[in-house]
Amino acid sequence: MKLTPAQIDAFHTDGYLFFPSLFTPDEVAVLNAEVPALYARREAYNVREKGSDAVRTNFAAHMYSEPFARLGRHPRMIEPVQDLFDEKLYMHQFKINGKMAFEGDVWQWHQDYGTWKNDDLMPTERAMNVAIFLDDVNEFNGPLMFIPGSHRKGVVDAKHDLTTTSYPLWTVDNDLIRQLVQRGGGKNGGIVSPKGPAGSMILFHSCLVHASTSNLSPWNRVSVYLSLCAVSNHIRRHKRPEYIAHRDFTPIECLPDDCLVNPRPVDLPWRDGMPASALVTSTEELRQAA
Ligand code: SIN
Ligand code: MN
Repeated sequence: MKLTPAQIDAFHTDGYLFFPSLFTPDEVAVLNAEVPALYARREAYNVREKGSDAVRTNFAAHMYSEPFARLGRHPRMIEPVQDLFDEKLYMHQFKINGKMAFEGDVWQWHQDYGTWKNDDLMPTERAMNVAIFLDDVNEFNGPLMFIPGSHRKGVVDAKHDLTTTSYPLWTVDNDLIRQLVQRGGGKNGGIVSPKGPAGSMILFHSCLVHASTSNLSPWNRVSVYLSLCAVSNHIRRHKRPEYIAHRDFTPIECLPDDCLVNPRPVDLPWRDGMPASALVTSTEELRQAA
């Protein structure tokens, strides 16, 4: 999929692009059919909400689930990001966020690159997030909120919040959010939240400040998030387990566009379980190859 010059301009100005209904109901159904069994697994890669059994985030499904492995090589996501960076990509992070009905907790205001820089020593912001809705997203089930243009500030100050939710995050404080929203237009566009049917896709800059509220509605808001990093910008530290921050920097090769409904063979390195090495972490900076 090719971006138009107008889309590329809008991406640089706003920090995101929204593609309603990019994937068909049949394609989404293939992915949704897998989710309950993945969420039922008692594995480290399923992070549950604080005080609840509901899954907040499932990590690394592209390593052990065939439909998600195919999604991770889908040209509708990979090609536009590859074009924007003019470089091949590897999968830095892959998650299926639950935000389950009544139980899905907040995601505080943050930039993803803040975490990748601080925790993983990713050198620059040449990494992109892609979200795909597996459920319809409306104003009630905790849609993503963006501060348009906030990516142009680069990396902003953040604090490591280890207590608000079950998942540690480098978060941006309220005063700075107030300023960024004001600068982005205040009540006139300073916060936006793309909403739409299952199958919609959002592509957003790794410095775009974003958040989402809790889900008090009776509707799940399951979404997949791929974090695609330019290969030369790979992380330099394995402080987090491999299922959270991947260590294989091999460039992604796309499958054909119909790969979700006409399955092609894919590699599933963790089909029989996650290797013990995926849990080994280190605070040492990786030595660079010559
Ligand atoms: C994220 O920022 O990584 C997730 C936000 C959400 O799922 O609402
Ligand atoms: Mn995020």
